[in-house]
Amino acid sequence: MEYRTLGGSGAVVSAFALGTMTFGHESDEATAHAQLDRFVEAGGTFIDTADVYTAGASEEIIGRWLASRPADVTERVVLATKGRFPMGDGPNDLGLSRRHLRRALDASLRRLGVDAVDLYQLHSWDPLTPLEETLRFLDDAVTAGKIAYPGLSNFTGWQLQKACDLIDVRGWAKLVTLQPQYSLLVREIEWEIVPACQENGLGLLPWSPLGGGWLTGKYTRDSRPSGATRLGEQPDRGMEGYDRRSTRDRTWDVVEAVEEVAKARGTSMAQVALAWVCDRPAVTSVLLGARTMDQLEDNLAAADVRLSEEETARLDAVSDPGVGDYPYGELGVEQRSRRIEGQR
Ligand SMILES: NC(=O)c1ccc[n+]([C@@H]2O[C@H](COP(=O)([O-])OP(=O)(O)OC[C@H]3O[C@@H](n4cnc5c(N)ncnc54)[C@H](OP(=O)(O)O)[C@@H]3O)[C@@H](O)[C@H]2O)c1
Repeated sequence: MEYRTLGGSGAVVSAFALGTMTFGHESDEATAHAQLDRFVEAGGTFIDTADVYTAGASEEIIGRWLASRPADVTERVVLATKGRFPMGDGPNDLGLSRRHLRRALDASLRRLGVDAVDLYQLHSWDPLTPLEETLRFLDDAVTAGKIAYPGLSNFTGWQLQKACDLIDVRGWAKLVTLQPQYSLLVREIEWEIVPACQENGLGLLPWSPLGGGWLTGKYTRDSRPSGATRLGEQPDRGMEGYDRRSTRDRTWDVVEAVEEVAKARGTSMAQVALAWVCDRPAVTSVLLGARTMDQLEDNLAAADVRLSEEETARLDAVSDPGVGDYPYGELGVEQRSRRIEGQR
């Protein structure tokens, strides 16, 4: 397992993190604990959860695991969680207000059974709350020792930049990471968000690196998803709904290319897709998601896969979402690449 610094911080994490969104839902507690044991045995140190995963149950399951394993195991863990999405029906049971986040963070710490988390992430932007209020809350939480580092998730480029600038001006605790959706099927963050992260020294924590299962080859053009799979159980689930993705030719071109690369190397499709995203610029740690132990085992093996230049070039090309001419394409690049003659 490779280790990298957690974005712009001095903390070190495994290049693959264990995502825990399936805990208490697709994966029962015994499977979840077995996943956590296997993950740390394989050298994994970084665990990602959120208050909203299975309405708090994911954090509780992790909390019981932390409480029942020896200190030399749990001491190595770098723990990340998030707040922002609804945890109740009240008008203040969501959002990035100080009022909600104070309660949300304390509730997360209680469920996890810890005094502090290493990374606390704003799960998404909140148009109702002044950003100063949110960022001041994070800084206070760092000072209070409840979080070591603040991070973001699902922010756009301008939102991220605004947050970084405000923090600089006020001298508050710096953001260290952004957690965006990123995979061979979803690369649009490369237009604006990845450069914003690079400019500000934030590391990327890609979520849904397998596109929610698509990049394992389990979904096909000719039949609707069925059985115990994410889309078999909920065909319209979230951003990966079957109808939306299956009508895009690029989806099937990407899936086919991943399959061909995997066959030629003798690895699984999942390993190829995970190795590709792990190798992208600015990536700190890729969030693995698994329902079963077999899936986790398959995905952990991606830590040993290094794609060749040719394989990477092929996957880059087939998954390229295109940028048009302007502002990201040829016309924009021309404007942004101004150089003085002779400049080195
Ligand atoms: N910040 C955010 O807004 C956000 C959003 C989503 C996720 N996340 C984080 O990112 C983590 C990973 O997201 P994700 O679960 O969507 O990741 P993913 O890797 O794209 O999808 C995981 C799903 O794919 C299937 N799968 C995984 N490995 C497989 C394998 N080797 N062979 C066949 N099928 C396989 C399983 O679903 P089935 O068995 O059901 O098919 C599994 O639940 C989450 O746990 C969470 O920590 C964050």
